[in-house]
Order: sequence, then structure tokens, then C-alpha cells
Amino acid sequence: STLMRSSAASDVYKRQEENQFIQNMNDIIMRKFICLFMVCFLSIATTLRAWEGNVLISTPNTSIILSATEGQQLRFSYFGERIEENQIHQVFDSWAGFHRPAYPVFGTSTYEISALHAVHADGNQTLDLVVDKVEQNPVKDAILTVITMKDRVYPFTVKMYYKAYQQIDMIETWVEVSHNEKKAVVLKRFDSGHFLIRRADVWISSLHGHWGAETQLESEPLVSGMKVIKNMDGIRNGLGDHSEVMFSLDGKPQENSGRVIGAALCWSGRTKIRVDMDDTFGRSVHSIFAGMNEEASEYKLEPEEVFTTPVLALTYSQEGIGGASRNFHRWARAGMVHGCDKPRDILLNSWEGVYLNIKEPEMDQMMNDIASMGGELFVMDDGWFGRKYRRINDNSSLGDWVVDTEKLPNGIQGLTDTAKKYGIKFGIWIEPEFTNTKSELIDNHPDWVLRAGSRELSCGRGGTQVALDLCNPKVQDFVFHVVDTLLANYPDIAYIKWDANGELLNYGSSYLPKDKQSHIYIDYHRGLVRVMERIRAKYPDVVIQACGSGGGRVSYGVMPYFDEFWVSDNTDALQRLFIQWGTSYFYPSIAMAQHVSASPNHQTGRVVPLKFRFDVAITGRLGMEIQPKNMTDEEKDFSKKAIATYKSIRPVIQYGDLYRLISPYDRKGVTSMMYATEDKSRAVFFVYKMEQFVNQLLPRIRMAGLDPKKNYKIRELNVAPGANPCFLNDRVFSGALLMNTGIELQLEREYASWVLELTEI
Ligand code: GLA
Repeated sequence: STLMRSSAASDVYKRQEENQFIQNMNDIIMRKFICLFMVCFLSIATTLRAWEGNVLISTPNTSIILSATEGQQLRFSYFGERIEENQIHQVFDSWAGFHRPAYPVFGTSTYEISALHAVHADGNQTLDLVVDKVEQNPVKDAILTVITMKDRVYPFTVKMYYKAYQQIDMIETWVEVSHNEKKAVVLKRFDSGHFLIRRADVWISSLHGHWGAETQLESEPLVSGMKVIKNMDGIRNGLGDHSEVMFSLDGKPQENSGRVIGAALCWSGRTKIRVDMDDTFGRSVHSIFAGMNEEASEYKLEPEEVFTTPVLALTYSQEGIGGASRNFHRWARAGMVHGCDKPRDILLNSWEGVYLNIKEPEMDQMMNDIASMGGELFVMDDGWFGRKYRRINDNSSLGDWVVDTEKLPNGIQGLTDTAKKYGIKFGIWIEPEFTNTKSELIDNHPDWVLRAGSRELSCGRGGTQVALDLCNPKVQDFVFHVVDTLLANYPDIAYIKWDANGELLNYGSSYLPKDKQSHIYIDYHRGLVRVMERIRAKYPDVVIQACGSGGGRVSYGVMPYFDEFWVSDNTDALQRLFIQWGTSYFYPSIAMAQHVSASPNHQTGRVVPLKFRFDVAITGRLGMEIQPKNMTDEEKDFSKKAIATYKSIRPVIQYGDLYRLISPYDRKGVTSMMYATEDKSRAVFFVYKMEQFVNQLLPRIRMAGLDPKKNYKIRELNVAPGANPCFLNDRVFSGALLMNTGIELQLEREYASWVLELTEI
């Protein structure tokens, strides 16, 4: 009988839906003539209380259509190719419109999964939101649409934001929740956004990874049931499941063709993306929800308090996965990654060279070496600090950010002076969100760490590492002052490597009240953002790298404050091809720290030629992670030339459009990609031989991103010592030939590679 009741209820609901749909279709037809007028009026009058109809949210090539009728539920109708105002009716006439709840809330249709679930002060678990007003206003580089929705019964408000960039195909959406009830309301689920994709041969591509094997790409067709992509680390959400996904709408993902929707949830904490196949109303859809992970995170929202969700960034491209990636890259360089207006320096990082054995003479020698190879910056990694507890191994001293004068008798000033002497900049490593149980910090402030009441501390790295309680404003002050003190005392510090080598292990904050302990996963990251905002307000020009045990902080939640990220602790060039490939789906080359390291590689033992190591590293922000003292003169000489070459192509790499050509995941024996400038006058092409088999059939590679009508001269860069340039060197080809017929490869060794520069003639 329960079944019968629910199926009867579903029939009633279905009929209501159909009636609603027909009514709305009629409304649309009646209104299509006045629609244009309304939209024009909207752009003049910013707020229209009694506005009814369709809200068109557009970027240069993309549109979202919402149906917003005052007093009714907000509806999501369309997301795809750009629609003009006078074409809106075509979406509905062709039945392309979804007309389903834009932000499903628990209560209005309790059997649908919801984006928002709130428990009111009186215990009522339901919401029923209707449109109150729609505002559309120009803001910097974008048009901001704000739709205010109110509960029919409770003084409970949700504002949905859609920020549509006018030069870039990106729409950011987020939500603000507030209320004016007598007591707190408990938020049990709070997604940033929701959208729909028609059910078809839709594929999802997502990134998953762990230490040393980050951003592994996985693609699979969407089937019925729910797919959940979640992150549980608490601090490093670049490990585990990433909160960025792509949907290929026309079958198996293709790099340069097919319709693709890309979504990135910009939050550094725990996240959850749910993809649900839903045919409740007879028309099958994939229903996508993305937000902060609600598990162990219910949020007690006080009256008047505003709960703002993170941004969910949405893009659409008809140029395949590659087109969606390029949209993400443009958007990142326009502000979502800090400081992209400045090209990035070539650096040497001390970690794999000396690990924790920081000593002044070695620092001097490394600075001298990188300067003489043409590098521009030296970064002193972990191991330079600790007074009472010296940082001899990784089980002590985090939090005690004072120089170990036994290792560095002349302190940081001595180091910045040396860097100056060699004509390079100086950078330093810190891990300010963490401490060790062996540290002066914890001796003095035992209550500053996250701790589950009287339970023994669970410790991470070195058996002693614990996270500070960033929910606590005093701890936020402390972290700010770690950076502020360093930068104020040593203004020559140009770069900070900000590390985070642990998960959130101890679930308890002595700062948060008893009834708000479940805010920890959220308030930690809000605290971090607060600190970063203070740092950026005072130090906008210092380059800051986000590192989290390698790629653990590859997250748009933090990138607005960081200039770059460490892609992975795995510096093996072969594995980096896979890791960098996945990362490039969403993140731009300018932000990807890629370092040439020693051979045999310290993580894998693989022996790889220096040329291959350089050719893999130069597709991002080039650096070295090696003890130059151990390199031969020939290697130093090759490095010097490769660094000079990188400088000559740096603008193409760091600001160009990326075209991925052959994926390492396809196991075709080679990986290939290229960058082209926006005006298509210059490009740099890369191909890497991943394995060698006799009589191996290699693909002919068709380039992309060139102008078919232009002619390009090819020059091989980084030619291996003693080798002749490849047969393509110095020849001229049309863009059409390079893209349609493609080039043949002659790579007859494992770890052979080509870097070809293409210049319009
Ligand atoms: C992490 C980072 C490394 C290095 C070490 C230092 O593992 O990813 O690059 O900085 O910490 O302890």
C-alpha cells in the first residue's frame, strides 16, 4: 500500500508537472514577444519585483536559461550553446528545455534528491522556495544575476548567484542562505549549484589520486544510479577525488571535438559531487549536484547570519575536452589563480638536492649553480628552522619558525644577501597550518591544535604532526604573523612555498562551542581563506606556491591566493606525463610547478635522459629539484641551454592555448601536446616516446590550434647533445597540412622526445 500511495502521489505530481509545463509553455508563447522588451528593460532597471519569465545568462558562446516566475519555483531550463534573447522560445519549441527545479530543496518534492536541506527552529524539515525577485547587473568583466527566493511559510531566504563572464566562457554559481527565524536553523546539506544534462551517451571524466600519483584521469559512461565523487581528507583535497569534472555529451571523450560541460567546485575542504540518473518525470536526465561535503558537517545557522557556499564554475565547449580545458585556463589566468599577469621565474628548489640537511655552504653553492645555469630564483625547502627542537628529521619543530643558527649562522639575511650577490631571487618553505607534538608552539599553546576532547592525539607525518585549529581567530592571527614576520623582516623574500602535509585527523576544536563542533570541516577552510586574504592584502606581489604533500592543494578553493602549485612529489618524468596531463584538464600551465630532478629518479628509480626530463618539465612552470653539485659539466651545459630556450618560449607556454593531441592514457607509445598563441603566430609542439618496441606502429600526429592558412617554419629545440635535429627541422608547412595530414614521427628510443617550435612566416 505504501508503494501504491507513492505511485499515486507520483501520478499526481506528474500531472501537476505536466500542467505546470503546459502552462509555462503557454506563458512562454504569450510572452515571447514581450521577452525582448523585458530583457532590455532588465539591463536598465536593475531590480524588477514583478518580473516573470525566462532569465538568460550568457557568455560569448554559452547560455543558461532559468525560468523565474514570481511566486513559483525557480526552474533550470537549458545549459549549452549560446542562445539569443529572440531564440529562447526555440529551446522550448524544440523540447530542449528541462524545466526542472534549478535548486531542489528538501521538502517540496521529498522523493527527489535535494541541493539544500534545512531543519527549521521548530523542527520542520522542509523548505518550499519561490522566486521573489530577479536582478541582473553588470559587474567587472561579467554580468551578475541574483535570484532571491523565499520560503512560502518561514522567514527563510536563498539567493542564487550566476556570474557570467563576458570575455570567457565561464559561469560561476553560488548560493547564500539566511533566515530570520527565532532560533538557529540547521543546514544538513548545502550544495553550491545544480544543473541537468539530457540522458544520452554521456561520459564523465574526473581526477583521482594519492601521494606520488595525483590527478589520475578516469573516464566512464554515465549509467543509471548515482555516481558520487567525494573528498574526505579535510585539508588536502587535491588527494583523493578531485572536485572538478567534465561531461562529454556526445559519447567517448574527444580532445578536440564534441560538446563538453566542465564543472569545478572552488573549495579547498571536503567536497561532494553527485551525479544522479533521474527519470522521475518520464524524461531521463543526469542531475548534477556539487557542494561542500555535508558529512559530519551540519551547520547551525543563526538568525541574520549569511551562509555562503563556495563557487561552482561551469563551462561549455563544442571543441571537446580541450575546449573546456582552455576555458578553465583562461578563467584561471584572469584571476582564479593569483598573479598570472607576471611570467613565472625558473627556480631551483633544495628538497631533492639536500632534503632536510640545510646548511649555509650548500645553500650558497646551490644558489651559485642555479644562477650560473640561468635560473632566476632559489627556494630553500624544509629543514631551516627550530630552536629548542631542531628540524633534523620530520618529527619536530613545525610551528617554531625561527632560524636554526647551527645550520645557518648568518640567518635568512645571509641567504638573501647571497642570492642578491648571484643576481637571483630567494624563496623559503613553511608549513604554517601544522605543528609537531615536539615543538615550542604546542608546549606554549596546547589548545591551538585540533583535538577530539580528551582523546589522545592522532598524529600524521613523523608520528607527531598535527593540524592547528584554524577555526580559532587567534590561530589565524598566528599563521598570518608567521608570514608577516618573515616578509616584514626579510623584504627580499620573493617566494614562499606553503606546504600542508597532513589530513584533518583530530575532529575537535576547543574554540568552537559544543553545539558547533560540526562546523570544523567548513570553518577550518574559512579560517584559511581569512588568513590568505590578509596576506594578499599586504603582500600582493610575493609569489606563493600551494603544496600539500605534492599535489594535495591543487584546488580552485585556494588558487585565488596562490600563484602556483606543486603538481606532485613524484618527479619521475614518465609518471609526470600522466599526472600533468590530468592536472591540465582544469589548471593552466602557468600554475604548474614542474621540476627537473635527478636520474635515477628518487621516487621510482627510473633512469631517464636529462633532455627528456627537461622536455617534460618545460610544458609548465620550469624548475629544478636536484643537487647541481652532482651533475656533470655536460649536464650543466645542457641545462643552461635548455633554460635559455625555455626563456625564449616562456610566453607561449605560460600564456598560450593548450591543445592535447595524444594521451598517455591511450597507450599509443607516445604522448603529445602543444601550445599556440592566441593569434596563432607561434606554437610549441611536444612529443614523448614512452616505451620502445621493435616495429612499433606509432601514430601520425595531427596538430591542432594552428591557422590552416598560415605557413609555419619548424625549428627543433633542445636537440640532444651530439644528435642532429629531426627531419622536420627548418622546413615550412601550412597549418592545414600540420593539422589535417599531420606529421610522421621518428623516435626510436624509449624516452626520446621532440620539442618543435613553429613560427609563422
Ligand atoms: C612535502 C612536499 C615536498 C617537500 C617536503 C618537505 O612532501 O611536497 O616538496 O617540501 O614536504 O618536508
